[in-house]
Amino acid sequence: MEALHLSKIISKKFKCYSNLMNKIKIKSKIKSYEIIFKKVKKFKNEENFVFFIDYIFFKKNSFLFDKKIKKILIVANEKTKSFENLNKIFDKFFKLNPNRFTTLVCVGGGVLQDVSAFIASITFRGLNWIFYPTTLLAQGDSCIGGKTSINYKGSKNQIGNFYPPNKIFIDTNFLNTLKKNDILSGYGEMAHYYLLSSFKEQVFFKKRTEEILKNKKFNLRKTIKNCLGIKKKFIEKDEFDNGKRLLLNYGHSFGHALEKYTNYKVPHGLAVSIGLDLANYISYKKKYLDKENYLFMKSILASINKKIFIKNFNNHKFLKYLEKDKKNTQNHFGVILTRGPKKAFFLKINKKDKNFQNFIKEYFFKKEINR
Ligand SMILES: NC(=O)c1ccc[n+]([C@@H]2O[C@H](COP(=O)([O-])OP(=O)(O)OC[C@H]3O[C@@H](n4cnc5c(N)ncnc54)[C@H](O)[C@@H]3O)[C@@H](O)[C@H]2O)c1
Repeated sequence: MEALHLSKIISKKFKCYSNLMNKIKIKSKIKSYEIIFKKVKKFKNEENFVFFIDYIFFKKNSFLFDKKIKKILIVANEKTKSFENLNKIFDKFFKLNPNRFTTLVCVGGGVLQDVSAFIASITFRGLNWIFYPTTLLAQGDSCIGGKTSINYKGSKNQIGNFYPPNKIFIDTNFLNTLKKNDILSGYGEMAHYYLLSSFKEQVFFKKRTEEILKNKKFNLRKTIKNCLGIKKKFIEKDEFDNGKRLLLNYGHSFGHALEKYTNYKVPHGLAVSIGLDLANYISYKKKYLDKENYLFMKSILASINKKIFIKNFNNHKFLKYLEKDKKNTQNHFGVILTRGPKKAFFLKINKKDKNFQNFIKEYFFKKEINR
C-alpha cells in the first residue's frame, strides 16, 4: 500500500517536473505568455475561434483540422506581408463575422505569424491570438519576442508593432513535412542566437548542423528549446528593442539586403546565415575578430548555406538595399559586428567608408561566402 502511495507521489512529481520541462514562460510588459511543447492531435472547432492556416501546411495535414472550424488558408511568401494582401485577408476575415471576443489562431510559419499578429493587434483594437508555429524558423525563433512586421514596397519589415500571442504550442512533428531548404532556413535563423552565445553553445550547434549534412533524422526539440532560452534572456531584458535586443539583429541588416537583392529567392534564414558570415568577415577584416573564431563560425554557417551562390554580384545594388535598414541614420549604416563568442556589438559605419564597401565586394567576389 505504502509502495503504491510512494509511486503515485513520484509519478506526480515526475509529471510536474516534465510539465516544467515542457513549458517556457516569457515575461512581457504587454502580456506574459507561455510556450507549451505538445503533440497536437486535432484542431477542434471552438466557439469564436478563427483559424489562419498556412496553405501548404493545411494541404499536407488536413486530417488534423475539424471540418467545422472557421478558417482562412493563406499562401506564405514575402508578398503575403504586403498591404495589398492584408486587405484581401481582412475581406475574408470580416466575412466570418469576428467580434471583440474572437480568438485568432495562427497555424503557420514566420510569414503567417507576422500577418496574423498584425491583424490581431489592430482588429477591434486587439484580439486574443494563439500561435502554432509550423516551421523551424518560427519554432526556434520568431514565435517569441512579440514582433509583428509588414513589408512596405518590397522593403522588409518596415511597418509593425509589438503584440505577443496569448499562448504558443510547439509540436516538432509539424516539421516532418518541411522542405530541406526551409529546414536549412530555420537553422540559419537559429545560428545567430548560437553565434551570440558562448563557445560551448556554438560547439553544440556545430554538431547539430553537421547532422544535417549527414541527413540524420532530425530531433530538434533540444536545439529549439536552447535557442528560445537564449532569445528569452535578450527579450525579457529589452522587450522593445532599445538596447541589448538590438544585438539580435546580428546578420540581419546584410541578410535583409540579400533577400531583397535576390528578389526573395533566398529564404530569410539562409540569407541571415550569409549575413552573419559577412558580418564576421567585416569584423575580421576590421581586426575585431581573430582568424580562428572567424573560421570556426564560418564552418558552422557553411554547412547551412553551402549551396547558395550569388552570381555577378553588384555591390551598388546591394548597398542600395542595405540603405533601407531600420538601424541606419542619415549618414551611417548601423551594423552588428563581433569580437567573438558573447562579444557582438553595434557599430555605426559612415556610408562613404570605402573600406566597408570593399569588404562587402571582396566577400561576394572572392567567394569568401563558399570557401
Ligand atoms: N516576427 C518576428 O519576430 C520574426 C522573426 C524572424 C523572422 N520573421 C519573418 O518570418 C518569415 C520567414 O518565416 P518562415 O521561414 O517560417 O517562412 P514561411 O512562413 O514563408 O514558411 C516557409 C514555407 O514553408 C511552408 N510551410 C510552413 N509550414 C510547413 C510545414 N509544416 N510543412 C511544409 N511546408 C510548410 C510555407 O507554406 C512556406 O512555403 C520572414 O518574413 C521573416 O521576416 C519574423
